[in-house]
Amino acid sequence: MRTVNDPLKISTPPDPGGDATCPGQGPGEETTDFGFRRVPAREKVGYVLKHFNSIAGKYDFMNTLLSLGLHYRWKRLSVDALRLKAGELVIDVCGGTADLSLLAARAVGPEGRVILCDINRAMIEKGRTKVERASLGGRILSVQGDAESLSFPMGIFDAAMVGFGIRNLTHMERGFAEMQRILRPGGRLVCLEFSLPVSAWFRLLYDFYSFRLMPLAGKVLAGNREAYLHLPESIRKFPPPERVAALLKEIGFSAVSYRMLTNGIAVIYTGVKP
Ligand SMILES: C[S@@+](CC[C@H](N)C(=O)[O-])C[C@H]1O[C@@H](n2cnc3c(N)ncnc32)[C@H](O)[C@@H]1O
Repeated sequence: MRTVNDPLKISTPPDPGGDATCPGQGPGEETTDFGFRRVPAREKVGYVLKHFNSIAGKYDFMNTLLSLGLHYRWKRLSVDALRLKAGELVIDVCGGTADLSLLAARAVGPEGRVILCDINRAMIEKGRTKVERASLGGRILSVQGDAESLSFPMGIFDAAMVGFGIRNLTHMERGFAEMQRILRPGGRLVCLEFSLPVSAWFRLLYDFYSFRLMPLAGKVLAGNREAYLHLPESIRKFPPPERVAALLKEIGFSAVSYRMLTNGIAVIYTGVKP
């Protein structure tokens, strides 16, 4: 395993190129959602890489703006839900620009360690700058890798977390199963992910915000309307909390529960490896 200073070269998936609305798809081939488009499953990781390459530079700024700063609170609550103890070993899957890793690193103290794993080097590098600035480089190790095939032995982590990442996987069940595999018995999982508002009036407002204001803000402030149209689309395609919770149980997590935040627009899922 190598760190991002000397990152493991992952095989680069095919670059979808263009606007990728009409990918080459063989008969009977597995397909999946990328926003509102159906794409061949084997190509989704390429679209996701391209998406995050295009927004890595503005990711934190846009997150804070578009969530009106709420994502910090959601992330703090998620790490609190892990009940980390000093000295524990934690993995931050799809860790991106390291917000959850930074919170976890403080919670596990100088004897603890956090492994941030993300497939996208640009996102990792943005996070690495924040980690160094916080003088937490000794506690947080960044590695480049695929959440659907984690290169860690089974049973070594005390806790696993994934923030706004599971929605991007081609097979989210594989991502969850991998986290289950690398957790020790009794190890805790937290997944923070977007969902949709519970109340009808808020959903109307949220739809307007999502499909009008978000892409506009993306265009004006990040020069990338497409990326900020993809975001609300991918949220609409993500299963509702009860289905995600059912999947976690199917995979074998126990004590599965979820907590809706801000009228349901973000959800914290928790589970334990038996
Ligand atoms: C929306 S960002 C979330 C970043 C961070 N966890 C946060 O909460 O701000 C999603 C991250 O998932 C990563 N990602 C997407 N697919 C992945 C995969 N198959 N394996 C690992 N990381 C992946 C992306 O590169 C991106 O950094």
